[in-house]
Amino acid sequence: MGRIFSLCIFLAFLVYFSTLSFVNAEVTDISTDKQALLALKSCISHDSSNLLANNWSISSFFCDWIGVTCGGARHQRVTALDISNLGLTGTLPPQIGNLSFLATLSIRNNSFHGSLPDELTQLRSLKYLNLGYNRFSGGLPESIFDNLPNLEFFSLHSNMFKGKIPSTLSKCKHLQQLGLSSNNFIGAHSERNRKLDSA
Ligand SMILES: *[C@@H]1O[C@H](CO)[C@@H](O)[C@H](O)[C@H]1NC(C)=O
Ligand SMILES: *[C@@H]1O[C@H](CO)[C@@H](O)[C@H](O)[C@H]1NC(C)=O
Ligand SMILES: *[C@@H]1O[C@H](CO)[C@@H](O)[C@H](O)[C@H]1NC(C)=O
Repeated sequence: MGRIFSLCIFLAFLVYFSTLSFVNAEVTDISTDKQALLALKSCISHDSSNLLANNWSISSFFCDWIGVTCGGARHQRVTALDISNLGLTGTLPPQIGNLSFLATLSIRNNSFHGSLPDELTQLRSLKYLNLGYNRFSGGLPESIFDNLPNLEFFSLHSNMFKGKIPSTLSKCKHLQQLGLSSNNFIGAHSERNRKLDSA
């Protein structure tokens, strides 16, 4: 009797947790993408031509917003976000990490500042990431390269990033272009030289 009872409890837990993991797997959908874009919009403190203010209107479908590209008619998730050269001042919100299907993210040549949200590391589909010519500062998230196996283009050129470049960069096997210059990084190279100097 006791055995059957504990078996039932066990099964009940099994069902409960498998349902939970199912719910977790479904956690992002089309409305998540819209929320993520609206979070980004709300982090724009200056928009010189009022472009996003007027165009990213909640009354229109977000896949029609300027700079936003969605995938096929069936799933309609954001696959590319290109808001380069728009004269925007702002920060990147953590919700950016919820754009699960994002393959291209370019915010090049604006005035984005602050540090990169750790959530960027959730964008597993990213192939192209261009954050160049902004005013980002702080260090790179330690795990930034851990989950970006498809990254082909990565630029942080001309910002104010500092600290070390995580050695996990070597996990990005498909990387073709890398732009890290004009920042305040401490490179592995200069570190090795320093060790040699003191040796
Ligand atoms: C936003 O811009 C796109 C691309 O220029 C345009 O097709 C769309 O109609 C605009 N939407 C609004 C609400 O202005
Ligand atoms: C940067 O964007 C501005 C518009 O905000 C544009 O006038 C300028 O040509 C762009 N510069 C580069 C190097 O792309
Ligand atoms: C999206 O991201 C934020 C911050 O990372 C999080 O709090 C939120 O629960 C996420 N999920 C959805 C469905 O918006």
